[in-house]
Amino acid sequence: MVQVLFCTAQKTIDQKVDSVLKLMTLDEKIGQMNQYNGDFDATGPITQDGDKQNQIRAGKLGSVLNVTGVAHTRTLQEIAMQSRMKIPLLFGQDIIHGYRTIFPLPLAEAASWDLPAIGKSARIAATEASAAGIHWTFAPMVDIARDPRWGRVMEGAGEDTYLGSRIATARVKGFQGSGLGNTDAVMACAKHFAAYGAAVGGRDYNSVDMSLRQLNEVYLPPFKAAVDAGAATIMNSFNDLNGTPATGNKYLQRDILKGQWKFKGFVVSDWGSVGEMINHGYAKDNYEAAMLAANAGSDMDMESRSYIRNLAKLVNDGKVELSVIDEAVKRILKKKFEMGLFKDPYRFCDEAREKQQWDNTDNINFSREIAKKSIVLLKNEKQLLPLSRQQKNIALVGPFVKAVRDNLGFWSYTWPDDTARIVTLWQGIQNKVGSNANLLYAKGCNINDSLKNGFDEAVAVAKQSDIVILSVGEASNMTGEAKSRSNLHLPGVQEELIKTIAQTGKPIIVLISAGRPLVFNWTADNVPAIVYTWWLGTQAGNAIADVLFGDYNPAGKLPISFPRTEGQIPVYYNHYNTGRPAKNDKDVNYVSAYTDLLNSPKYCFGYGLSYTKFDYSAISLNKTTLNAADKLEASVTVSNTGDYDGEEVVQLYVRDMVGSVVRPIKELKGFQKIWLKKGESREVKFTITVNDLKFFDDALKYDWEAGEFEIMIGGNSQDVKRGKVVWNK
Ligand code: NOJ
Repeated sequence: MVQVLFCTAQKTIDQKVDSVLKLMTLDEKIGQMNQYNGDFDATGPITQDGDKQNQIRAGKLGSVLNVTGVAHTRTLQEIAMQSRMKIPLLFGQDIIHGYRTIFPLPLAEAASWDLPAIGKSARIAATEASAAGIHWTFAPMVDIARDPRWGRVMEGAGEDTYLGSRIATARVKGFQGSGLGNTDAVMACAKHFAAYGAAVGGRDYNSVDMSLRQLNEVYLPPFKAAVDAGAATIMNSFNDLNGTPATGNKYLQRDILKGQWKFKGFVVSDWGSVGEMINHGYAKDNYEAAMLAANAGSDMDMESRSYIRNLAKLVNDGKVELSVIDEAVKRILKKKFEMGLFKDPYRFCDEAREKQQWDNTDNINFSREIAKKSIVLLKNEKQLLPLSRQQKNIALVGPFVKAVRDNLGFWSYTWPDDTARIVTLWQGIQNKVGSNANLLYAKGCNINDSLKNGFDEAVAVAKQSDIVILSVGEASNMTGEAKSRSNLHLPGVQEELIKTIAQTGKPIIVLISAGRPLVFNWTADNVPAIVYTWWLGTQAGNAIADVLFGDYNPAGKLPISFPRTEGQIPVYYNHYNTGRPAKNDKDVNYVSAYTDLLNSPKYCFGYGLSYTKFDYSAISLNKTTLNAADKLEASVTVSNTGDYDGEEVVQLYVRDMVGSVVRPIKELKGFQKIWLKKGESREVKFTITVNDLKFFDDALKYDWEAGEFEIMIGGNSQDVKRGKVVWNK
């Protein structure tokens, strides 16, 4: 009977939701707001209940996370179909950078500045995941992160609000494809709402205290972009924001998200974050925590069981209005309708599709493409790179040369055939050189201990070679959730290994694998070539070999500043000028600076080299005095003056010289990735309107102010051409 009602064709989804809601008991409604981990995998501290299946049958569960595969999801969905209301379950999973085919870490992908490619990576991830029965990914993470000590910096798009917002849009659209209801679309979940990336000291789960102006201007726009792109869901965050945990935060969830932004999807808590409000000291017990979270607009409780155990009593006690429950359930049911699950709860349970997506050559090939695009060339003295395939003896040294699983990075799933599928650096280079070169190998040292007994072998191997490729970095499980670190230097004795090999006098190329900016000053200052390879996924080895041997000219640009040392953190390009700005890198004379450190970061935001060289002309501006309705056209001519064809990310920055509140010394406002043949020149033009000049003032009014603006265009955030305009109201 119920099933017939759901399918009445002429009704709108809202009407269908209403008619289902009318048939539901209070307990069944609360069941929809409850989500458990499914016992197959765990991404947080697990609570064993023993009878999840009976709870599903009793209509006490609306969603399950960490259950994948058509067989598993079908089993649980069949149980849901035995419940009185037969409301299908939603299966959620952290599909962060791929499901079966793993792509580079999100931070690495951000280094590509290639929005179509980033969108395609999300699209493929969604296609593979949905074929395995998954309806919902807990991605993209759109937290702005200015602190590389925070382990989750790997999961987002870096430090910049503009780049982060553009990437948020690309990822949401990628995951949701041509729209919910298609069986290759998964619901996106922009997380963690909000300001989780600003945890004090970069320590995971820590508090956040910031002005509402900074919150609105720096941290919220990527969420707004995700909502505007149609993100079906939002996940709130573990941190408290200015003393109120995000999960119990009405300002964030009710006023901004559901109010100002008119977000129509639902909000899921983070794992256990409803109950964790007790630890925060914000709720006395789970009863109070459930009350605070539900009233603040958290629609679904992931894993804390506070809702399922307390909401009915809270409604009966008059502490939570029935309308609050109804609103949350409507939001959740609406998504289930949009996903087509009421029509067919098994529509994501197609074994043939699952099989087809399991080993999909196109997906694997694309993994290599985006991995190449994510690589950043940090240094290349005397054009040591690219290498010729005809090198006689190549030494491959370091703990990552033959590493397998590390190539995938945090937030990736382990499959039984990982060893056969993942292309190591060793294999990638072997594939590239074939029998043209003799490859030598020595591990040299472990990733993170003090043993140097492998150094001698490494030196011996280096001495027999014409060139040494040294692969160092941090293990993939050293970044990610709960992986904050206070020491970002290359772990263990790896930098000592580099120094020791350097003494052989052989040319050295250092490859750095990491999920965050690391500190490696000696290497940066003494080794001729450095390539930042992050964690690149299933095709890592092939992609790195493509770059090393010049089949691909690297074009990645850093989406986050690299500090000189941990004490310089946070260091980010769009800071304020202060009343006593340093005049140059070495100026320490009663200015805002560290007396023991150069003022600039080691590598700045937007930085990355190519095998070719790009020259920028002076900026040309169509006007230097403008009125509100005018459009400013700022252009430069970029010329490829080097020896290779290549790509360049041309970046536009703007500075508002005087404001009613102080403005950053520059802010990214646009970028274009262009491809230029050797010897080719192209005019690159940006159009700027007053909308690009808006900011939040002290009263949180979002507008632009008349005055002088500096326009900057360049290949990174430091090396820019400058022009000035005056904009009148
Ligand atoms: C906790 C993490 O903070 C969140 O990002 C993730 O989606 C959930 N666990 C589920 O795994």
